[in-house]
Amino acid sequence: MDATSKMIYLKDYQQPAYWIKKTDLVFDLNQKHTQVTSTLHIVLNEFKPITTLPVLILDGKDLILKSVRINHEILSDTEYEEIADKLKIQPTEKQFYITIVTELAPHENTTLEGLYQSNGIYCTQCEAEGFRRITYYLDRPDVMAVFTTTLIANQTQYPILLSNGNLVDSATLPDGRHTATWEDPFPKPSYLFAIVAGNLMCHEDAFITKSKRTVLLKIFTEPAYIKECDYAMDALKRAMQWDEEKYGREYDLDIFMIVAIDAFNMGAMENKGLNIFNASCILGDSNTATDSVFQRIESIVGHEYFHNWSGNRVTCRDWFQLSLKEGFTVFRDQSFSADMNASTVQRIQDVNQLRTVQFLEDLGPMAHPVRPEKFIEISNFYTSTIYEKGAEVIRMLSHILGPDLFRKGCDLYFDRHDGEAVTCDDFVAALESVSQLDLIQFKRWYWQAGTPVVQGIGEYDKSEAVYRLHLKQYCPPTPGQIDKLPFVIPIKLGLLGADNQLLPVTESGETETVVLMKKSQHVLIFENISSKPIPSLMRDFSAPITMRFSYTRAELISLIQYDTNEFNRWESMQRLLVSIIHEIYEHIQSNQTIQIDAQLEVLFRALLTQDNHLNWAFLSELFALPTFTYLGSNLPALHIHHLYAARKAVKQHLATTLVDIWYEKYQLLNKITPYYPIAEDIGERSFKNTCLSYIMALQSEESVQLAKQQCVHSNNLTDTLAGLNGLIQSEHPTASVMRQSMLCELNTQWSNQSNLMNYWFSVQASDEKTALKHILELMKHDAFSLTNPNKVRSVIGSFCRTNVVQFHALDRSGYAFLLDTILKLDSINPRMSAALLSPLTQWKRYDALYQVGMKNVLEQILAEKNISVDVFEIISKSLS
Ligand code: TRP
Ligand code: ZN
Repeated sequence: MDATSKMIYLKDYQQPAYWIKKTDLVFDLNQKHTQVTSTLHIVLNEFKPITTLPVLILDGKDLILKSVRINHEILSDTEYEEIADKLKIQPTEKQFYITIVTELAPHENTTLEGLYQSNGIYCTQCEAEGFRRITYYLDRPDVMAVFTTTLIANQTQYPILLSNGNLVDSATLPDGRHTATWEDPFPKPSYLFAIVAGNLMCHEDAFITKSKRTVLLKIFTEPAYIKECDYAMDALKRAMQWDEEKYGREYDLDIFMIVAIDAFNMGAMENKGLNIFNASCILGDSNTATDSVFQRIESIVGHEYFHNWSGNRVTCRDWFQLSLKEGFTVFRDQSFSADMNASTVQRIQDVNQLRTVQFLEDLGPMAHPVRPEKFIEISNFYTSTIYEKGAEVIRMLSHILGPDLFRKGCDLYFDRHDGEAVTCDDFVAALESVSQLDLIQFKRWYWQAGTPVVQGIGEYDKSEAVYRLHLKQYCPPTPGQIDKLPFVIPIKLGLLGADNQLLPVTESGETETVVLMKKSQHVLIFENISSKPIPSLMRDFSAPITMRFSYTRAELISLIQYDTNEFNRWESMQRLLVSIIHEIYEHIQSNQTIQIDAQLEVLFRALLTQDNHLNWAFLSELFALPTFTYLGSNLPALHIHHLYAARKAVKQHLATTLVDIWYEKYQLLNKITPYYPIAEDIGERSFKNTCLSYIMALQSEESVQLAKQQCVHSNNLTDTLAGLNGLIQSEHPTASVMRQSMLCELNTQWSNQSNLMNYWFSVQASDEKTALKHILELMKHDAFSLTNPNKVRSVIGSFCRTNVVQFHALDRSGYAFLLDTILKLDSINPRMSAALLSPLTQWKRYDALYQVGMKNVLEQILAEKNISVDVFEIISKSLS
């Protein structure tokens, strides 16, 4: 394989030679083979003058072609050409009908793209390029057609037959089969097509839109899980209401359906009128979902629903524009979740996610801009940069315009481009139209990769009573982009004065201002400042950058206690904890005795005992140690085991020195009440379990009993799992016996429930004491399967990502295991094998101890014949 020949470039974009106006599909779903008959109304695209009709080139993949007909003529095999995944035909007219019959083997399709089966249910996944596994087509998002779909299947085995749009016809056929026909009036690209056929039960409800239309809502699932749809249904109604209120967007069909599927590559898919969800992102009740799973369900249900406008009604011209729909829709789902829950906590979680995943992506070989300029395999670009950084770009735009203009701009964008396939430029142009702003420099966020760094230096002049803040921005090089132009960076800030009050920073006396930094250097001057202030920078994380400022620990402690921006109180705590953990890491690296700054305990105690009206959810974020990944992200030649030990030492220190408070708060919050996954209760449980996790770090017999009690007596999965996790974390000898019996018991209780078994697997695989040997045993468990992505993620994913101690074992056994697994998985499901590679791609950032082993694995995979393009693209970039 060779990288350059496979590369696809944005600059090469051209409109297609032909459009498809109408697509008629008939699926004959049979035990062995499925026959697909596709009739397309093809029309010449007359965008440029031509003398002869261009060849029609349709995309296909792994298809068995049965016949091709043009209008009423069957073509002989000399009248078309079928080579290298393409079907080529020379048309003789400017418009015509082509009928193509293909044959598929969905039962054998383990890629989970195109048409496949999951637990006996037929379903499809077409984004990005899965439709070409169903029939030959112009499988690109700018080709939008009106679809009619007929399904034929055995009535007993497949009583439910679904596709996009409205049901227009159904009938019983003589041979025990039946048929249903669906019509979707909205033109759409092939990636939004879907069918489902199976034995499903349905949870039904209705929503009345603001123009008083009744929309039927249906969530389908395997019968065993029908009781687990309530939460998602309510979340869906909240999302529909929210989009009407916040964006004025109403749903457009008479029916909206969601189907829960067990074997699914990602979280969910926004197919028009027929969303398909990974069962782990939609099903749940108090016994099968945790608080954070409920919140994930709410946000993903919102996300896919919001796509109906940001993605479906207005779609992407080409896959380089992926963030047009994903960044915008993530921004919309984050805003929705912030409105439904504690908004600061939502922001903290979103920023944490961005910094642990996206910032790391920017440091590695796969770094790319929000709008990439080239790729080999688009599936590798469903990344945190496209999603989360893309959302930050939209968030900055919404702040630059302000809420009213931003709303007007979105309205204009939806109206202007309804039914079209457009680009990120079109989105920005709509915002420019309503605001008269020139956003040309801002658009660098779309094409320059990397995380910008702003270095701030404060200079206080007592005699003049002036504070000067010197700001300097630069952006580290990323692959293919060495020098970068300055970004437009919104910096929201305030100044904390000597009396711990915020000082006025604008002419009109406000205590907060937003500076739009456009040049590489900037000096802000604040007058009448009577003593040296402490700047509160990047409030609410006003841009996706790293802000460097050398705060003293005393200054950070003041900000943690007195800043009025809650987000920045958390941010200052993170800075303090990072600096302390890094200090310990240095001690370990240089063989010194560990010494933990005593100020930390004093601060924690003060915060935990003062009555500061902070909510519990916020407090549990405030007392959460920075993630391991974030801690490691800016350490050169990272020694993984030393950093792990440093983080653990701080945890243990806080556990021991504050033991009285952890117990006191735990008792305060540990009450058995009916379970509701509502924000206030979630906050209380979350802080209680933060306390438990510190208590577990004491490694005492007493703590083991406490975790066990919680596990056994809880009436909800959040507390059960927190208790189990406590037992698993503990190194006390009693814990290991208890852990064994608890796991055994839960295995019996949970064995028939797929989502519960995912937790059962992942708590074990993430445990630092779980050695590779046990992982291999888990993989032999009946409930494990390499063809089910949730199982792969909960065992192999958890081991390689979360269990850093064992995965990075110095004997390289973890790496050898991953090598083995990737090679096995690559022929089953290349999307999954490519996803598992990510822990290895960052090899250059690690200490030489690890580097060689990681690099060897990459080289060995690359040397294999027949690896997927997905894996090839990531490895070839990682090794260059
Ligand atoms: N568009 C989906 C979303 O809402 C992403 C997605 C789901 C996807 N399944 C996929 C992307 C399979 C690629 C392949 O984010
Ligand atoms: Zn999406």
